Amino acid sequence: MASLGYYEVLLALACFLFLAFFATTDGLPWNWPLLGTLPSLLCNVHRIHDRCADALSQTGGTFLLRGPWFTNMDMLSTVDPANIHHIMSANFLNFPKGPQFLKIFDILGDGIFNSDSESWRSQRKLARLMVSNHRFHRYLAKTTQDKVDKGLIKVLDHVSKQGLVVDLQDLFQRLTFDTTCILVTGYDPGCLSIDLPHVPFSKAMDDAEEAIFIRHIVPESIWKFQRWLGIGHEKKLRNARATLDHVIGKYISMKRDELSRGIKSNDEEEDGVDLLTSYLNEEGIESDDKFLRDTILNFMIAGRDTTSSALTWFLWLVSTHPDVEEKIREELKSTIPTEEANKWRLFGVEEISKLVYLHGALCESLRLYPPVPFQHKEPHKPDTLPSGHRVDPNMKILFSLYAMGRMKFIWGEDCIEFKPERWLSERGTIKHEPSYKFLVFNAGPRTCLGREVAFTQLKLVVASMIHNYQVQMVKGHTVAPNVSVILYMKHGLKNRVVEGLIPGSCKIRKRGCSSSSSSSSVLQNYRFKRAILVGKPQGSRSSTLIPSWRTMAAALDSPKYAPSQSGGGRSRPVSARKLAATL
Ligand code: HEM
Repeated sequence: MASLGYYEVLLALACFLFLAFFATTDGLPWNWPLLGTLPSLLCNVHRIHDRCADALSQTGGTFLLRGPWFTNMDMLSTVDPANIHHIMSANFLNFPKGPQFLKIFDILGDGIFNSDSESWRSQRKLARLMVSNHRFHRYLAKTTQDKVDKGLIKVLDHVSKQGLVVDLQDLFQRLTFDTTCILVTGYDPGCLSIDLPHVPFSKAMDDAEEAIFIRHIVPESIWKFQRWLGIGHEKKLRNARATLDHVIGKYISMKRDELSRGIKSNDEEEDGVDLLTSYLNEEGIESDDKFLRDTILNFMIAGRDTTSSALTWFLWLVSTHPDVEEKIREELKSTIPTEEANKWRLFGVEEISKLVYLHGALCESLRLYPPVPFQHKEPHKPDTLPSGHRVDPNMKILFSLYAMGRMKFIWGEDCIEFKPERWLSERGTIKHEPSYKFLVFNAGPRTCLGREVAFTQLKLVVASMIHNYQVQMVKGHTVAPNVSVILYMKHGLKNRVVEGLIPGSCKIRKRGCSSSSSSSSVLQNYRFKRAILVGKPQGSRSSTLIPSWRTMAAALDSPKYAPSQSGGGRSRPVSARKLAATL
């Protein structure tokens, strides 16, 4: 995804300042005369998330980053839940998205992400109505199940049979791009197929996000000048915008045409309906092309990358924590009839709604690897935060969601451990954590509208993958977070996927998706929950410590991740062209 290109060269030039930075005694970013903390930030940009977490844990959760004197870039970084509650909920009106956000995200037009006040309120009301509609939920279930079955499983089957290495992050990005586009517009761009095609619409969204990220780290005057000259990321952004406008415009006119001719792409009552159709059919709302273009793009940005990022980190965590993987498998088996436990199968919406441990594991993964790693706000009027810090309209307030998950004062001494049990109550139900502590889906009146949509998609995908396959990390592959508006893995997630690995059993492949459950599965479910709670005492330290980036490479050299006998010799990264050629 987002690479820094020639900015990296510029950043490298600033690295002579690096030594001085490390010479500080308290380990906090050094405040340079005139330049503020910018040199320290630039020198650490490649590990900005961990650097932020270090600095925030040393300062008790809040510190001020001084920008260069001429740039108006002072930033208060905070992970203090009291401050977050104040900004997101208690004093919400004083912290709008603000003009700066609008400038940086101008590609989103007047959509929900970019708007404040009355425009935001009316869009949110409408969007909530559309997203919570039962016909949309039916469409969500059908679309995701279809994509898993006819897209993801097809590719996984192919790579597992051929013993190929596949980048799961790329597959998940393709999967969620397709599902989000279908959910929003009703049209399938066909990104996830066995030949891994190049899709300009998807590429345009990648380029746009990369340019938006760059706008966050360089002074406004510089990116505006580049935009004026039409060079660098600004040029990419301009081209991306043209592609997005073209493709979305085409979808809107196709849909208008279909609706005017009374063509239905599916049985709406049975299969549900996409968002664009709902917006066009809704009486009494403005639905000109500009409004629809902004709405589609905002939903695409909201749903696509967040969900694929969540899938990628989750699969990696599960594949490196066999005890968690085993518990998820057991829980999956416990929700289906006993005779189906060792058979190949996909999962239905009704089944995944019962998965408590899986839900906890997903929350735990989102806590440690939030898809949106940073958020920022600007106060409308001067204010004093509960931590005592003064903020004014010339200042940005930055929340590092990544750092939040690593604060002992928020999550306890074991905060860096991957422990799904953290989310389970004594009774075996999901423990609720307040959103100003678990900020992954935002907090207050602007809370994410797609939370349920995301959990449904995540569970449908991972249940089918974990029940039917085993994911094995490739030896020597380094896992590290990138630096962008979405938290992806810098080098992707290179894996081999092996079919049907329930120990001691041979899975029988039988297509079809059952959503029924028998009394025996209810009993199994009860036993499973009990086993989680009784078998492993709460707070017990298992093998769930998150490996640091430095130790990851070493860990991957261990025999556990070595290629298996069957496919090891043939393991290799697979390019789109090669994959197609093997067919
Ligand atoms: C794991 C998946 C997801 C995560 C982590 C996530 C996270 C977030 C976050 C952090 C925000 C606040 C952004 C901001 O104000 O700048 C947000 C807002 C939003 N999300 Fe999500 N999201 C996810 C999936 C989805 C999906 C699938 C949809 C759509 C179906 C969606 C729809 C929205 C919308 C419409 C907003 C704007 C709310 C507002 O401003 O009132 N999200 N989400």
